[in-house]
Amino acid sequence: MLRRILELPDPVLREVADPVPTVTPEVEALVDDMFATMHANLGIGLAAPQVGELLRLVVIELPPNEKDPQAGMRYVLINPELRRLGERESMSEGCLSLPGFRAMVERAHTATVTYTGLDGRSARLDAHGLLAQALQHEIDHLNGVLFVDHLDSLDELEQIPPDGLEWVPAPAEEDADQEDT
Ligand code: NI
Repeated sequence: MLRRILELPDPVLREVADPVPTVTPEVEALVDDMFATMHANLGIGLAAPQVGELLRLVVIELPPNEKDPQAGMRYVLINPELRRLGERESMSEGCLSLPGFRAMVERAHTATVTYTGLDGRSARLDAHGLLAQALQHEIDHLNGVLFVDHLDSLDELEQIPPDGLEWVPAPAEEDADQEDT
């Protein structure tokens, strides 16, 4: 079922979400809804509070990229915790809750996250690049934080066309090299 995505300035987006106590059929149904809603809106990540559910639950699916085994995989992260962050760099970023805008945001290039999977087991994910960026962005949502909060000024927001993708990542360096040849 498609859910309505809350947009700024909806106050629900500013709340701190509650932990998911246990994986129930309701949680599984919410995960299905979140993937469907994310795909319908051309996003690569979605946090439960964005569809009005104040739960610590995130889904991520990057566009397939044969050079990146982490792309094209469906990630479901329940109660995720950022454990380790690498060096920061400036990355282009947008959000389905703030459609039509993006900005350069400082994010760690690598991130380690622990979480509970849909199978109820504890797991750990070592991410880099776009996946690390998405993890930081979506976990921010669980704490009521939006990417604009990382900007010094809203003047840094850049308008994108209404049909633009939520995320417009720069190609990875290997890809750029290949495209040049
Ligand atoms: Ni977002």
